[in-house]
Amino acid sequence: VIKIIDTAGQMQKYADGVREKGKKISLVPTMGFLHQGHLSLIKEALKHGDEVVVSIFVNPAQFGPGEDLEKYPRSFERDCKLAEDAGASIIFSPDKEELYGKNYQTYVNLEKLPMHLCGISRPTHFRGVATIVTKLFLITKPHAAVFGQKDFQQLQVIRQMVKDLNFDIKIIGAPIVREDDGLAMSSRNTYLTPGQRKQALCLSQSLKQAFEMVKSGVIDASRIIEQAEKIISAHPETKIDYIAVCDPDTLSDIKIIQGPAIMALAVKVGNTRLIDNMMINQ
Ligand code: PAJ
Repeated sequence: VIKIIDTAGQMQKYADGVREKGKKISLVPTMGFLHQGHLSLIKEALKHGDEVVVSIFVNPAQFGPGEDLEKYPRSFERDCKLAEDAGASIIFSPDKEELYGKNYQTYVNLEKLPMHLCGISRPTHFRGVATIVTKLFLITKPHAAVFGQKDFQQLQVIRQMVKDLNFDIKIIGAPIVREDDGLAMSSRNTYLTPGQRKQALCLSQSLKQAFEMVKSGVIDASRIIEQAEKIISAHPETKIDYIAVCDPDTLSDIKIIQGPAIMALAVKVGNTRLIDNMMINQ
């Protein structure tokens, strides 16, 4: 059965033991309420390590005031079962006092990548992500860690941080897992009413439309963004946070699409903020 560890010290000791045996550790960081997207990361992680650690921790540092920290969905027993069936051998599930003790004051900040996309409306989010991922790296001592492209900006932040801080960890990006109708899987989809769930399809539909436009020769990003706005705003319960066509490495806006381009968007459906993205060129 899967082993559950909830202190940093025990986790580090366990990781040292695995490493002493010459075995490799791969890490899949999550906030729990696991779905097929998370499980695909575990499957990928199995290719890169002998033991897969899945961390489950709803990280307070990456939620802003008024966001959904308190109501973030939880299903610990079910998560353990799903992670085990997918092939993980350890669940690391500390409580918040374990990771952010009294007088906690150390954070990891990136200078540029957080100035784009989600970082604009969530100004402290990526500092929270970079900090917790650094802590998880130091606690679980992985050789490799797997992140989903669903959170594309997060993946780029982690890659940059690993490069900048010389973490000796291989970062693997895994493709977005979608529901049959195209909606990107997310723990937050559970907040949607049936009516909102239908409207939420407009995110993936507008990305698909953008992809087709580029394929048919449109290179003007503003035309592609306008079309996406049109599709999304036709749904009464949606509110667009951003729609961007950007350079996948720097996340800076692209005006004329000539090389690699990703379209990323964040839309509120009711009170639920959803994100999605797609490579629309190369
Ligand atoms: P969470 O939202 O639980 O996601 C955990 C991992 O699963 C992330 O790498 C995310 O990109 C990936 N993921 C989520 N939905 C996916 C989907 N539909 N397809 C593929 N991968 C998907 O992201 C976080 O937690 C946190 O920010 C974390 C990295 C754990 C730091 O707290």
